[in-house]
Amino acid sequence: MSTNPAGIIGKPTPRIDGPLKTTGSAQYAADFHFDGMAFAVPVVASIASGRIRSFDSSATEKMPGVLLVLHHGNIGPLYRTVPGDDNAYNAEVRSALEDDIIRHWGQYIGLVVADTPEQAMAAAAAVKVEYDAEKPDLRESLDDYSGERKKGSSRGNSDNAFQNAPAKIDQTYITPNETHNPIEMHASVAVWDGDRVTMYETSQGVVNHRVVMAQTLGIPIENVRVVTRFLGSGFGGKLAPWPHCAMNAVAARKLGRPVKLVVTRRMMFSNVGYRPRTEQRIRLGASKDGKLLALKQDYLNVTSMLDDFDEGCGEATPYLYSVANLEVTSALVRRNFGVPAPMRGPGAVPGLYALESAMNELADDLKIDPLQLRILNDAQKDESNNQQFSSRHYRECLETGARKFGWDKRTPEVGSMRRNGKILGWGLAGASWVAMRLPCTAIVEFQANGRVSVRSGTQDIGTGTYTIFAQVVHEKTGVPLDRIDVILGDSSLPDGPMSGGSMTTGSVLNAVANASNEAIKKMIALSTGTDGSPLKGAKIEELEFAEGRIRKKDQAAGDPEFADILRLARLNGLSAEGKTVPTWEDPKAKDYSLHSYGAQFVEIEWDPEIARLRVSRVVTVIDAGRIINPKSAANQIAGAVVMGIGMGMLEETIRDQHTGQPINGSLADYLMATCADAPDIDVTFLDYPDPIMGEYGARGVGEIGLAGVAPAITAAVYHATGVRVRELPVRIEHLLQSKIVEA
Ligand code: MOS
Repeated sequence: MSTNPAGIIGKPTPRIDGPLKTTGSAQYAADFHFDGMAFAVPVVASIASGRIRSFDSSATEKMPGVLLVLHHGNIGPLYRTVPGDDNAYNAEVRSALEDDIIRHWGQYIGLVVADTPEQAMAAAAAVKVEYDAEKPDLRESLDDYSGERKKGSSRGNSDNAFQNAPAKIDQTYITPNETHNPIEMHASVAVWDGDRVTMYETSQGVVNHRVVMAQTLGIPIENVRVVTRFLGSGFGGKLAPWPHCAMNAVAARKLGRPVKLVVTRRMMFSNVGYRPRTEQRIRLGASKDGKLLALKQDYLNVTSMLDDFDEGCGEATPYLYSVANLEVTSALVRRNFGVPAPMRGPGAVPGLYALESAMNELADDLKIDPLQLRILNDAQKDESNNQQFSSRHYRECLETGARKFGWDKRTPEVGSMRRNGKILGWGLAGASWVAMRLPCTAIVEFQANGRVSVRSGTQDIGTGTYTIFAQVVHEKTGVPLDRIDVILGDSSLPDGPMSGGSMTTGSVLNAVANASNEAIKKMIALSTGTDGSPLKGAKIEELEFAEGRIRKKDQAAGDPEFADILRLARLNGLSAEGKTVPTWEDPKAKDYSLHSYGAQFVEIEWDPEIARLRVSRVVTVIDAGRIINPKSAANQIAGAVVMGIGMGMLEETIRDQHTGQPINGSLADYLMATCADAPDIDVTFLDYPDPIMGEYGARGVGEIGLAGVAPAITAAVYHATGVRVRELPVRIEHLLQSKIVEA
């Protein structure tokens, strides 16, 4: 229908919202201010297990500016969300302040609201709480677990095959508790108008957030509106609402004033999720020439006392390699910690750390190049369910990465590669991530002022979603980007997907393309039926829409702009809706195994005299379908690689073993990779459209860049130092075990 040769799909496109961000005019949740606004600060538990004996706020209530103190005894009814309701994804089972039981250090036990944030902070600190404390279970290690294990993916007989395999790896790999540290802290601003509430939230899913809030507050869904115009990232920690949102809304309702709550950085280490510690035993059995015969993965992950959070470490295991005998089992281990949450690449990222580490160990044992080992065991179909892959180019990721990295120059002996007085280590690992289309509705509107708007109830969490919407509308209509308005981040818009699972791009494209096509059809029809239109009476089949104009297919010049037609028709705007059918309702998609793939090549420099370790170079090759915006996509991958360096070498939440308080719960003490840790990162996209994903064939890139980085780092560390690190992060203590003492 449209013949715009614009070619903006696949063209590096700067973020359309960039200027708003760099000038400080983008409004994040905590930037919303209202007249008469009050400020809320939670009161948090200082023990990790027990009961509240007394909560004495008598002195607090007399402090300057204090308006309200909420606690278990006076918050009034809050409700849980309906179990199993996929449209009400909640972070915690328990509602805010539901009972007087303490299950982890830092748990919210009250809320103080005052005229200023300083008054609220001082007053919250002055509440006197007495506890009946019990001994908490704070053990970091999970190896005491001896209960039942849940059976996951399974085929063949992995025990027998492992027993009889000529070559074996049997190792346990550990990833620590990691804390999400988006720069924007969680925040909630609640404004009531009668019995209707508007909540300005830090949400990766405004539509879901609204459903959860309606169920939690016990009010009709049409009385709740959730707004997230911009998000300073979330990494999964902002997918579902946390208890502070409902507490804050209740406070605002009781006071009849807008109330703002900003979760402090310290509270973010105990109250808004984390990637749970995993302990994964991997058993690989193989022939002497490296063909996999058995693969077994038994993993544990920590969870809270009430919530069953399964990290899902077996996500990538069943389909990545060809192996006849495979089994995944899992179990959850309860501790007096807060509730875990998805963190960038949940399941697959720690799972692939274990699986890909074991693959590297097998390659070293058998003296096979780890690249060749993976190619040898590449899967031709998804052996977990016998489905065809929609589009899989894992082998090409490995081979392309090897070429760009110069892998053929690697000498495999430990400590054998040197440069400028340092020892080099080279390592690689594979990556994969699931793909899916979630439902989405979008509306495209041609406006009489010459602009086009597109809207949907999804949100841009910093990844470039605004720009993707504009690119599609531009591609379809030819209207320049600076005349396209993208409106997202509001639950009153037609339902759009959560920004999670790397699924946003793949989920919105079809809806926006369909809405654009429909709006164009309507505009063409309008142009033939409007008095005064130069196209009045023309045949619709002879017309096309290009560069913002309607024209006869065989002639180019002098055609009306859409705005001219709208004005002649006395219309302010003309809109159409488009939808995305989710993959699980698409008969074509249901029969395919949909995943993205990648390969990570890492070079480390090691200075043995001072045990100084740095990642000096990374080559990443990603097969994620068609890349809509290579600029923001490469930014996602490079950012994820930096996060992978943090996972490999720095990140770990450490709790005090007596109180359960995170002892590195600040940006100063919790080590993350920063600019200074970021090496040269070479990102390559294979860019094969996935025919099953629909319009444009994109699968999404938010998470896969993190997968495989940590095991490539530990492989490189082994190559340089001879030390196998099977518990992240790599520390100086590990490196000091090296027998290699000088470069
Ligand atoms: Mo992601 S962990 O789905 O935000």
